Amino acid sequence: SDIFTYDPGFTSTASCESAITYIDGDKGELLYRGYPIDQLAEKSHFLEVCYLLIYGELPSAEQLEDFEGRVTRHTMLHEQMVNFFRGFRRDAHPMAVVCGVVGAMSAFYHDSTDIYDPWQREVATIRLIAKMPTIVAWAYKYAIGQPFIYPRNDLDYSSNFLHMCFAVPSEEYEVDPILTRAMDRIFTLHADHEQNASTSTVRLAGSSQANPFACIAAGVACLWGPAHGGANQACLEMLREIGSVDRIPEYIARAKDKDDPFRLMGFGHRVYKNFDPRAKVMKESADEVLGLLGIENNPTLQVAKELEAIALKDDYFVSKKLYPNVDFYSGIILDAMGFPTSMFTPIFALARTAGWISQWKEMIADPTSRIGRPRQLYTGAAHRDYINVEDR
Ligand code: CMC
Repeated sequence: SDIFTYDPGFTSTASCESAITYIDGDKGELLYRGYPIDQLAEKSHFLEVCYLLIYGELPSAEQLEDFEGRVTRHTMLHEQMVNFFRGFRRDAHPMAVVCGVVGAMSAFYHDSTDIYDPWQREVATIRLIAKMPTIVAWAYKYAIGQPFIYPRNDLDYSSNFLHMCFAVPSEEYEVDPILTRAMDRIFTLHADHEQNASTSTVRLAGSSQANPFACIAAGVACLWGPAHGGANQACLEMLREIGSVDRIPEYIARAKDKDDPFRLMGFGHRVYKNFDPRAKVMKESADEVLGLLGIENNPTLQVAKELEAIALKDDYFVSKKLYPNVDFYSGIILDAMGFPTSMFTPIFALARTAGWISQWKEMIADPTSRIGRPRQLYTGAAHRDYINVEDR
């Protein structure tokens, strides 16, 4: 019989070759196409990072302008999709809505579902990057019972997203440049992270030659879980539940207790055994944004900082190399911007779409890629004969 390598959780199995993102977990280093994440977060912006991830190089000024123009032309959703949103319950989690709407894109954009046509692949890529902000913003508007705000193509990518989330038809809404910058940085920090669970899901779905919209919907579904993208919502809810610095020891004790399923959300990572470089940038950004907004005494930020300080001195966390991850500080910024916690994971999905579609394109273009088909170690019953129900 066949002998297979058994590797639950894929801790030692490379599923593909990829030239997109590099992580050195011991050093706490993250590179997109060779460029360090902190440099990109500081000097670049999300659409340029999308270009870099998708095409492999930083664009020239002309290439960037062309790319931004193409994305901007595709920000609108097919008007029929308005009805699709309206079919959901208002109290649905926005991730459920985003997952459904992204999957439904293949029902609306038939001219970009042929994966063998490079032009259609390109259009699908642009459409996904362009329409995700509209989809995510509309999932929010729908949840709070406000009218949908249509994209404004005179605004940059992140300003347009904030505008679609926070503008209302009866009032003037000026997008605050501090918030735009912070939003854009959050998008950049979440854009890709090599073969994490959702990206591997997108690749596995794509390996069956499913259309790109179906594959990205699969990625959204996988991202939702609290061990993955759902951790940002869970983390802020945890920080709020802790509520004050004096209650931290109780939660640290719970996180260490093997009989308690509670984990410190926003802590630990499969690959990083050192600081998550994204968390470092996110922490600085949280300080900056809350300072600029004049809410630096935010109690949640104080709890987060103190919790981090205590955990990093605690033997349990030190010996297991558990450090804050990207989700630890992002929620504090999103909360300060005015987003409810249910929107945190959809915002992650919006940003990660850049990575998902880049990885999907890389896979489709790779002549050696085959359908993903893991094997198993069978532990069930041996061959046995069927017994009629009256004889059982
Ligand atoms: N709090 C307390 N203990 C923890 C934590 C935590 N957050 N994370 C890991 N541990 C312990 C765990 O109990 C285990 O202990 P032992 O070896 O004694 O059994 C050890 O550390 C290793 O944990 P693991 O679950 O085997 O590690 P993993 O690589 O399978 O899981 C993880 C990684 C991120 C799922 C996990 O650290 C976790 O659940 N963290 C909290 C959720 C979270 O913040 N997720 C976001 C990850 S980063 C962004 C993203 O992926 O979207």
